[in-house]
Amino acid sequence: MEHYSVLLKESIKILNIKANGVYVDCTLGRAGHTKAILQQLTTGKIVAFDQDIAAITKVKQELNDDRIVYVHDNFKNLKANLIINGLKTVDGIFYDLGVSSPQFDEQDRGFSYRFDAELDMRMDQTNNALTAKKVVNDFSEQALAEILFKYGDEKFTWSIVKNIVKARQKQAINTTFQLVDIIKASLPQKVLKQKKHPAKKTFQALRIFINDELNAIRESLEQAITMLNDGGILAVITFHSLEERVVKEFFKKYTKVVTDPVKDKLPVMHEKVTTGFTLLTKKGIEPSDDEIGENRRSHSAKLWALRKEVKHENI
Ligand SMILES: C[S@@+](CC[C@H](N)C(=O)[O-])C[C@H]1O[C@@H](n2cnc3c(N)ncnc32)[C@H](O)[C@@H]1O
Repeated sequence: MEHYSVLLKESIKILNIKANGVYVDCTLGRAGHTKAILQQLTTGKIVAFDQDIAAITKVKQELNDDRIVYVHDNFKNLKANLIINGLKTVDGIFYDLGVSSPQFDEQDRGFSYRFDAELDMRMDQTNNALTAKKVVNDFSEQALAEILFKYGDEKFTWSIVKNIVKARQKQAINTTFQLVDIIKASLPQKVLKQKKHPAKKTFQALRIFINDELNAIRESLEQAITMLNDGGILAVITFHSLEERVVKEFFKKYTKVVTDPVKDKLPVMHEKVTTGFTLLTKKGIEPSDDEIGENRRSHSAKLWALRKEVKHENI
């Protein structure tokens, strides 16, 4: 299947690449964004993270360029890895969140309800011991329900969870298709007839939980913001409302100017109130209709960015 990188042009534009700059791609995947950044660099370099060793191995074979430093780690360990590589600050940090199309399409990873496979869903198969199989078979009814509510916003959580518990008493739930059948049997006809796949929400919830995705984003962004050079850009592509909420709250925290109502009325000259960061995207940037037409997966994507301001002495 052809690989599309979402919001590619828009991401490169907003990162405002300097030819001698240092950039971090926190989500290498199939390197669409890394390659586009690389094209703009002369003496600059790029540090590329992925917690999936298959992604790193595949790209390394294809892209043998000494301006790239590959890091096989979770981006929640961003700072430690940059320091190890002698970097205290960088010119841009980029995230294209979630699971890559190859991960979805590789049958044996168990991410997709479209293929029958072992229930796995780990992005990092070398470190993470928690698989979807373990969660579905071993977690209590209450714990499963919390996962489906919290990360899938699944209206039919109780019906699905009750049927999971009933099914696993008879036989272990080992495969994606076993789980899809249980989900289908738990939903009303009206929902089954909708265009959206009935297992979409449950699969999304399990995946987010297993990979602890939202905490990793929070932890990583807090490190990223401390590592930007003056003028440096932090840019993030989100794909669903839970990611969006985390990123929006984070960007708001660092860019919202809170003014003092008393001081506000005073004619203070030459003093600009600032948080030190400028929000570059009031609303997230969305893909064009053409892009959505070519790559359906991009339809929910939004690009968010902020820039660290360049410090000026007051005049
Ligand atoms: C949407 S894909 C990136 C696609 C890439 N931009 C491209 O154009 O090919 C996301 C990638 O980030 C990786 N990833 C997701 N969360 C991660 C995390 N917390 N730490 C490191 N890598 C992560 C996934 O394994 C996946 O390969």
